Amino acid sequence: MGKIVVIGSINVDLVFTSDKRPQAGETVMGKTFSLIPGGKGANQAVAASKLGADTYMIACVGNDSNGEFSLKNLNDMGVNTRGVKIVDEVPTGLANIIVADNDNSIIVIPGANYAIGKDLIDENKKLILSAGMVLLQLEIPMEVVEYVVDICFENKVRVLVNPAPAAPLKKSLIDRATYITPNEHELKLIFDNLDTDEVLKKYPNKLIVTMGSKGVKYHDGKEIRVIPSNKVDVVDTTGAGDTFCGALAAALVRGDSIRDAIIFANKAAAFAVTKLGAQSGMPVLEDLL
Ligand code: RIB
Repeated sequence: MGKIVVIGSINVDLVFTSDKRPQAGETVMGKTFSLIPGGKGANQAVAASKLGADTYMIACVGNDSNGEFSLKNLNDMGVNTRGVKIVDEVPTGLANIIVADNDNSIIVIPGANYAIGKDLIDENKKLILSAGMVLLQLEIPMEVVEYVVDICFENKVRVLVNPAPAAPLKKSLIDRATYITPNEHELKLIFDNLDTDEVLKKYPNKLIVTMGSKGVKYHDGKEIRVIPSNKVDVVDTTGAGDTFCGALAAALVRGDSIRDAIIFANKAAAFAVTKLGAQSGMPVLEDLL
């Protein structure tokens, strides 16, 4: 089973729950507050590691208590953090998350996540080249994402790009990535509002579109397939996409077919949304048997 190397963000999540989402100019009384580990990169690394994958992270945190907290959590979750650099000039990334009306809204302050540069990638090139799969998201500078995709493509290392938060992607990146996992909203932005099925046909076995409770769509080379999602009582959808990507990578690296990997990742994501917080509900292998 190959290594998974996640290159991405580490945040501390400040999670407020409330019965009502405040409108602009409005103050509402909340129900609970939690300060918990997050960041799309860290979440995906934890998801993969909890499911048994040999997982490494390349990232930056600030020289502060949030950075210490995040690193300790990653280590406790079995993620190897030798590629994580502690930087002095900027604080650890933060996310303000409001969970209300069965959905979440998030503001991210990138902080140290934007200190990730090509130099950090070069320092960790050996690790990247030894990976069974590299995972990227878009909470780090785009030029670094593009640089890593090029390195992976040139060296035949499989690379999965989760284009979240939504941002336009260069055609060369789309062509060179092995897998791309947008949700419907991200897909529309990346492919200029083109019809989902038309886009899927162009990128068989590469584009994997997550559609929440409607399931996951991809083209298997012959036809479009929809893998239904698992029905559960939702508590918090934060990190569902991250659990999906981490689990998908863990399954692909152990040799599952795309179809089996999606079924496995769907189960993992469904399990995760039954608890508050991005990482708190992520399953271990036994939970999915
Ligand atoms: O995908 C969920 C994550 O997005 C949160 O953990 C938050 O940190 C933001 O990065």
